Amino acid sequence: MSVIALHAKQQPDKNDVPASNRAPLPASPAVPLAFSLRGITKGFGDKTVLDGIDLDVPQGQFVAVIGKSGCGKSTLLRILAGLDTPSSGTLTLAGGSASERRSRIMFQEPRLLPWARIGRNVEVGLTGIAKGEVARDLSLQILQAVGLADRVGEWPSVLSGGQKQRVALARALVAHPFILALDEPLGALDALTRIEMQQLLERIWQQQAFTAVLVTHDVAEAVALADRVVVIDEGRIALDLPIPVARPRRHGSPETARLEGQILDRLFGRG
Ligand SMILES: Nc1ncnc2c1ncn2[C@@H]1O[C@H](COP(=O)(O)OP(=O)(O)OP(=O)(O)O)[C@@H](O)[C@H]1O
Ligand SMILES: [Mg+2]
Repeated sequence: MSVIALHAKQQPDKNDVPASNRAPLPASPAVPLAFSLRGITKGFGDKTVLDGIDLDVPQGQFVAVIGKSGCGKSTLLRILAGLDTPSSGTLTLAGGSASERRSRIMFQEPRLLPWARIGRNVEVGLTGIAKGEVARDLSLQILQAVGLADRVGEWPSVLSGGQKQRVALARALVAHPFILALDEPLGALDALTRIEMQQLLERIWQQQAFTAVLVTHDVAEAVALADRVVVIDEGRIALDLPIPVARPRRHGSPETARLEGQILDRLFGRG
């Protein structure tokens, strides 16, 4: 496995990390790592937001990141997605080719282009990767996976909030990213749509086997979806909890309730 390391202060490309600064990732006997964060700090002015984050994530793992508002979750995700650089520390991405190192980020708002039809909006995710007929085919395939192939020729304005987020998910996944960073992507949806979207996200993650890093405020959502929940507090990882619950998971089971309780205790400094 070749490995790419991105050090503090280097300017990354928006989506793909430059093939420079090779450094070894720690060897893993089982699953190789998708990425590794070492001593990541980030400050804005004299305010320290991230204060030494160390995190190794194996390929294909689903990680949820939880923490109080303003604790640095989005900052961490932006660093991971190559949209920002750490003040110090190292992000190391595994993967031999640009496509193996590709990451995408999805936000709470769908951020669709209102003047482009659904198919074209999804093709935006293939910019610099594929165009023309190939891009149209790939876009249709992924729209099929999110259940919106029949809406390919429509405008974003006629879709519901949940449907727009499905288009945003399709755009994020059309280029088959190695890492998908999700910044509260379901935060603006109603409770039922949210559960449907969780199931869709889980299904597509299982099919495509990308590494998912989901920032959420919803402890139940984290436990429903993730293999592992990381709690950030005062710029550091305060809890790193495996979620060893078989899938498909059932909302409200005693096992998930116990894990949710453990996370809430840590968030509110109990126990
Ligand atoms: N570009 C920036 N310039 C200055 N301060 C920033 C910048 N980006 C983030 N911050 C500050 O860093 C801190 C962490 O912000 P961040 O957006 O990462 O928090 P968060 O955990 O995602 O919060 P929320 O749950 O509310 O989305 C906040 O105090 C914020 O004001
Ligand atoms: Mg945020």
